[in-house]
Amino acid sequence: MCGITVRVGDGDAVAELLGGLENLEYRGYDSAGIALQNDVGVSIVKREGRLDHLREELDSGSLHGSIGIGHTRWSTHGPPTDENAHPHTDCTGEIAVVHNGIIENYRELREELQADGHVFTSETDTEVIPHLIESGREEGLSPERAFRRAVDVLEGSYAIAAIVDGTDAVFATRQGSPLVLGRGAQKYFLASDIPAFLEHTDEVVYLKDGDVVRVETEGYTVTNVDGEVVTREVERVDWSPEDVGKAGYDHYMLKEIHEQPTALRQTVRGRVDSLSNDVDLEAFPPGTFSGIDRIHLVAMGTSTHAAMYAESLLTENGVDAGSYLAGEYATAPPPAGPCTLVIAVSQSGETADTLAAVRSIQGTDVRTLAVTNVVGSSLTRECDGSVFIRAGPEIGVAATKTFSSQVLTLSVLAERLVRDITGHSIENTGSFFEALSRMPGDVQRLLDDSSARSLAEKYLGSDAYFFIGRNSCYPVALEGALKFKEITYEHAEGFAASELKHGPLALVTSETPVFAIFSGGDDDTKTLSNVKEVQARGAPVVAVASNSSREAIEQADDVLLIPDTHPVLSGVLANVQLQLVAYHAANELGRAIDKPRNLAKSVTVE
Ligand code: F6R
Repeated sequence: MCGITVRVGDGDAVAELLGGLENLEYRGYDSAGIALQNDVGVSIVKREGRLDHLREELDSGSLHGSIGIGHTRWSTHGPPTDENAHPHTDCTGEIAVVHNGIIENYRELREELQADGHVFTSETDTEVIPHLIESGREEGLSPERAFRRAVDVLEGSYAIAAIVDGTDAVFATRQGSPLVLGRGAQKYFLASDIPAFLEHTDEVVYLKDGDVVRVETEGYTVTNVDGEVVTREVERVDWSPEDVGKAGYDHYMLKEIHEQPTALRQTVRGRVDSLSNDVDLEAFPPGTFSGIDRIHLVAMGTSTHAAMYAESLLTENGVDAGSYLAGEYATAPPPAGPCTLVIAVSQSGETADTLAAVRSIQGTDVRTLAVTNVVGSSLTRECDGSVFIRAGPEIGVAATKTFSSQVLTLSVLAERLVRDITGHSIENTGSFFEALSRMPGDVQRLLDDSSARSLAEKYLGSDAYFFIGRNSCYPVALEGALKFKEITYEHAEGFAASELKHGPLALVTSETPVFAIFSGGDDDTKTLSNVKEVQARGAPVVAVASNSSREAIEQADDVLLIPDTHPVLSGVLANVQLQLVAYHAANELGRAIDKPRNLAKSVTVE
């Protein structure tokens, strides 16, 4: 799990490489480094810790060059140290390599190379790559042939970029890890993700697995696994550079929470037609899913909670659906056949566990569908079809706007599935489409009026924080707890409201506030009983509810009010309140909100 940047072109590359790394820090941030090709050979600076350490080192202005590669790391092999930071070199220091992913056969390769006299200076799997290129060079191969031959023996998932002294080019490839090319004016970029170079160009080329690209100041050439030159389409992305800045907010997370009305507008735009009473899901017209009789939703983390939300919506409407942690599904998949549809939900489209779940059924007759934010991501290439959540880039490690967009996208998809499979409609349960269309405005009103900040301050210092809900509010309870724990580092747990009395109640005291989520539907009565149970043990209760849940509001010690909506969508609004509570609590505690300890935005290892 790391970020790669490459810059080739006129002028000095240092500032643009550093800028790119800054925009990729969400992919990993325990060490960073850059290597430049210049008139003295290949020069490298790399440092343990945040990017600032590297920046301080480079401020002396000692490093120059117009061709460079950069890397920000999140350790998988070897602790975060200067030695283990990328770029890595061969024995001569003439070849430098950055890598994202895992080389599974690195131990065998390392032993063979050491037996041939190569000397290793790090504990990483990556270091075998420059040494492999070096042995190709020793045998007289051109830099490109040596690079290609090195890649041929690698097993695992990777995106790699390399420079070789004396060659004004960067060689790069990908296999199971992301790598995109950016085409600017007299310069080219390669990166793990588009925000790395978006301020310089919006023209991108999505490389495919097995592609090898040679990038020079004059242009680039892509060749496929067989070494044949191939054309990869240049596409224009519509993300503006401001989309990846903080836009005046203290943290990306807060900015992204406030972007939700816009994100949700984009998510539902053109997809819900309250006049024709139907949904329009681009490539999935009515009847697409007619033969399906069972849905498996696979995902990890926050995306699992969105998947559970969809499961609840589908089962409530007569569709046989189950959600699974993708990492578990990958090793123990439940029975599936030609009438099963597997929906893989992932913001990044790069989560290794989710990809593994999809791969576990590849080659069978099970149909797969990706629900993701990232066009061109690995998941979209591995699934039979894709639906995009259209939330825009999310930089904060904690997923916020993408959860809301996932739930709304899955709600639209659920309507298509319910219609195709059962012939009924969620819309018939009462103004579902209208509620979906109103959601961006509802979220805006909630953001304008939220009292989450004072509430977070009031309960700061509690022993633990519990979150309860039932049906579609159960995954929101889990998500509320996940968000709270990941950015405050405080103990937080989510439960199905019915589960509390089967054990967790033993933890409830006057020092454990309980956030109870109410849908405004028939299930409110039972959740209210659970609220009384915890209050009887002295716990203060915060109801996250709309005015439709009058009794709950009267019973609770505190209230986070949400606008009235269709009961199956109340959870989306409740979740926004809980995002704000987590944010303000973490801010009060002075936590590293956008980059919580031990976490990374995209987890590309199983
Ligand atoms: C939590 C969070 C993670 C991700 C999980 C899956 O805030 O962001 O739990 O949801 O790592 O990531 P994606 O959705 O990219 O597959």
